[in-house]
Amino acid sequence: MIIGIGSGNPEHLTVQAVNALKTANVIFVTDKGNAAAELLQLRKAVCERYLASSSYRLVEFRDPERDRNSSSYLSAVEAWHQSRCTLYEELILHHLGENEYGAFLAWGDPSLYDSVLRVMQALSKKASLRLEFEVIPGISSMQVLAAQHRIPLNQIGEPVLLTTGRRLAEDIAAGTALDDDVLVMLDADCTFSRIADRETDIYWGAYLGMPGEILVSGKLHEVAERICQLRSEARAKRGWIMDTYLLRKPRAR
Ligand SMILES: C[S@@+](CC[C@H](N)C(=O)[O-])C[C@H]1O[C@@H](n2cnc3c(N)ncnc32)[C@H](O)[C@@H]1O
Repeated sequence: MIIGIGSGNPEHLTVQAVNALKTANVIFVTDKGNAAAELLQLRKAVCERYLASSSYRLVEFRDPERDRNSSSYLSAVEAWHQSRCTLYEELILHHLGENEYGAFLAWGDPSLYDSVLRVMQALSKKASLRLEFEVIPGISSMQVLAAQHRIPLNQIGEPVLLTTGRRLAEDIAAGTALDDDVLVMLDADCTFSRIADRETDIYWGAYLGMPGEILVSGKLHEVAERICQLRSEARAKRGWIMDTYLLRKPRAR
């Protein structure tokens, strides 16, 4: 099972997710290294909160890193997926007995900017593994962002583009107009600060749903600098940061 556990608040686990966790014999949790030890603790806390310790075996593993120096983003991602497939196959073969259920915990919702479902799809095609998998949705950070700012994600009848900081930077460099609302994840560079438009609003959130949550909203040109500063201070203090934001041009109606 791939279980979405929400993006930081243990109370955001759905009843379906808790019930699925209860059926798991083995729970696999990712250790992303020292900087994010807090995230590993949070995953463990979710298990401790909802399960009796005797009911499951916990397996911690370190996910391979993507090669960030590769000149080709797509081939780096492909190589990274391949090494994740190899690792996950070994984990399943080594830790999961015949007819046992395993659960991989996915941050937020597993369908969004997470390759775990692609890895599972690839593994389920391997006849030797005889693997079937189920997906339990979770509350994504983008839903928490909207809730904390008390806004709808879309304007009436309008689309929202879901993208990454890297793609937003490419669009800005290409001069592609950002007419629709844009929801940005995975942006380590405060890419929003490269947007000159004075009408755009930003709704930004870091550590959403977690202790130390930070929220800022306002006209982008007025708050961009403050967000960048808050972001770098918080990152230096805590050792890691996850933030996401919505860019919106209010429609005249
Ligand atoms: C690899 S993606 C995974 C997204 C996840 N599947 C989801 O549904 O939110 C990680 C990105 O999600 C966003 N994110 C996840 N959790 C967050 C949180 N608690 N606060 C703010 N942003 C978060 C950040 O943009 C981060 O860089």
